[in-house]
Amino acid sequence: MADLRIGVLTSSDTRSAGEAEDTSGAALKELSEARGWTVVDYRLLPDDRDAIAAALVEMADETCCDVVFTTGGTGLGPRDVLPETTLAVCDREVPGIGDVIRSESLKITDRAMISRGTAGQRGATLIVNMPGSQKAVRESFGFVEGVIEHAVEMMAGGGHG
Ligand code: MTE
Repeated sequence: MADLRIGVLTSSDTRSAGEAEDTSGAALKELSEARGWTVVDYRLLPDDRDAIAAALVEMADETCCDVVFTTGGTGLGPRDVLPETTLAVCDREVPGIGDVIRSESLKITDRAMISRGTAGQRGATLIVNMPGSQKAVRESFGFVEGVIEHAVEMMAGGGHG
């Protein structure tokens, strides 16, 4: 079990305004810690592209997170900007992660097809988008958690040993 440095970023106008609790960000912290990983950074932000981009850059370049899990902002609402903001700050996309979250989630709900979430790599940091509800976060995390440590090893230049 690797001790990964995890960042959690929640994109939500209502939660960041204190109008609702950030249950999905809390779930991501709990699920990460249950794997033995350490949550070293947590941001609760409005659905604002510039603020989210700045936070993702800091979490990657300054906090040196191995992985940043994001929740919210993947849908079709006018202020849903997570996938495009993730890609804007990443060196390259990791499309398989979003593909798997969507395809596995489709077995649970048709609405998975309107989540545009993706993943990307900025330096040695992997950024993974998940939808905004606590339920969706718990399900999505379960689909990808098994590959995260190998992904981090590969970003650090490791092989397939
Ligand atoms: N994926 C899973 N696994 N479980 C869910 O309940 N909800 C969907 C979808 N993906 C859901 C899911 C719903 S209702 C929406 S609107 C989209 O994710 C986008 O969510 P977001 O805008 O909160 O990111």
